[in-house]
Amino acid sequence: KSSITNKADFKLRKQLDEADDLLQQRNVDGAIRLYDDVLRENSKSPRALFGKGMSLDILAEQKRSNQLLGEAISSMDAALRAPNVPAELLRIISEKLAERQTFRGWNHKAAQTWKYMSDKYPDNVDYKRKLTVSYLTMGDNVMAREILKNILDKNPKDGFSLVHLGFILKTVDLNYEEGSRLLQEGIDTQEHGTVDGRFYYHLGDAYMRINRTDMSSKVYKKGAELGLFLSEHQRSLYNAETKLTGRPWWTPEQTPYGRYLAMLEKNWETIRDEGLSLLDQKTGGFLPEEENLREKGDWKQFTLYQRGKKNDVNCRRTPKTCALLDQVPDATSCTRGQIKFSVMHPGVHVWPHTGPTNCRLRAHLGLRIPEGPRIRVADKTKTWKEGKFIIIDDSFEHEVWHDGTESRLILIVDFWHPDIPLQERRTLSPI
Ligand code: LMR
Ligand code: MN
Repeated sequence: KSSITNKADFKLRKQLDEADDLLQQRNVDGAIRLYDDVLRENSKSPRALFGKGMSLDILAEQKRSNQLLGEAISSMDAALRAPNVPAELLRIISEKLAERQTFRGWNHKAAQTWKYMSDKYPDNVDYKRKLTVSYLTMGDNVMAREILKNILDKNPKDGFSLVHLGFILKTVDLNYEEGSRLLQEGIDTQEHGTVDGRFYYHLGDAYMRINRTDMSSKVYKKGAELGLFLSEHQRSLYNAETKLTGRPWWTPEQTPYGRYLAMLEKNWETIRDEGLSLLDQKTGGFLPEEENLREKGDWKQFTLYQRGKKNDVNCRRTPKTCALLDQVPDATSCTRGQIKFSVMHPGVHVWPHTGPTNCRLRAHLGLRIPEGPRIRVADKTKTWKEGKFIIIDDSFEHEVWHDGTESRLILIVDFWHPDIPLQERRTLSPI
């Protein structure tokens, strides 16, 4: 224990060792009593403060108390910031403390922990990486960027920093040239943490947008080979445990949803009229696509269900459509999908992209289909027909154009992929 014991603690080592033993035996109350004894002699004893924090953390879990968890975190934090903490103990405290702070949802506090360690050990890249991850979870790209640049100044080949900075340049700055350069350099290091589907996805996407499709297809092939994608063309990142039939285009007969699809098709004019009436109202309610999927043009959506929940406000404006949908539980319960009207005005090009998950099949009901729009999924391009469904698996790469002169309106209905067992559906996190 000498590596975790400072001078002052050395004098109290017998009590501290005894307290640690009690903690080990999960005699939490006994341990806390002994740590408190030590703290009466030396209120800044790092071992006692940390031990007490660990004990309180166990109590917090037993009693499921956030109050106690907060006290545990405070005690560990006091241990971290006490004077003369041996390096090895600091390392142990910071790991545990940041982990508990993150668990509590206090990412900003976890960031403060890693900031403290980074300042104390300016040459330790690992602490800076952890600090970056905290900033990114908080959504603080500005600070994350600063630390990443700081690491790269000293170590220009740091794979972690290259992929993360490249990711920020690509997704926040939309700087595809520079973003792809850093992402590529980063994944080429093959360092731990760089082998991640998100980096391969966005690198391929960046290349595609600057017309280097030879490079994007290389990246996608590599990603599939590494098991980051289901295949070169099916690049969703939130996939079912169960192996699912992967097919870009589906017929109604290939699904168990034929009668629902037929019922909605039968009522397509009712659905169309409600969709069109929304478009006529100047107050709208249609929201522009916001995922930066468009190269150009105007494409908007009006959502009725999302993540398995009805949007009551919007459904009040299209009551007949929602009443019909209420008869379709395999769609309304799909927590990994949506049901929405989608209006696409002439002049749109949607970049090739893939949806986030393979857990849904996406059925499009044609409502107002002029000349001009078309959709490619994997290697087949089709168009819509009024009153008819097309069914795609949007985890496959797809791309949309509208070269016509009038707006296109469809209803998008996501169904659970039929191969996912009922019980797995309940465990999947909503998307
Ligand atoms: C998509 O799912 O990306 C598009 O097909 C949606 C749409 O409105 O065509
Ligand atoms: Mn899509």
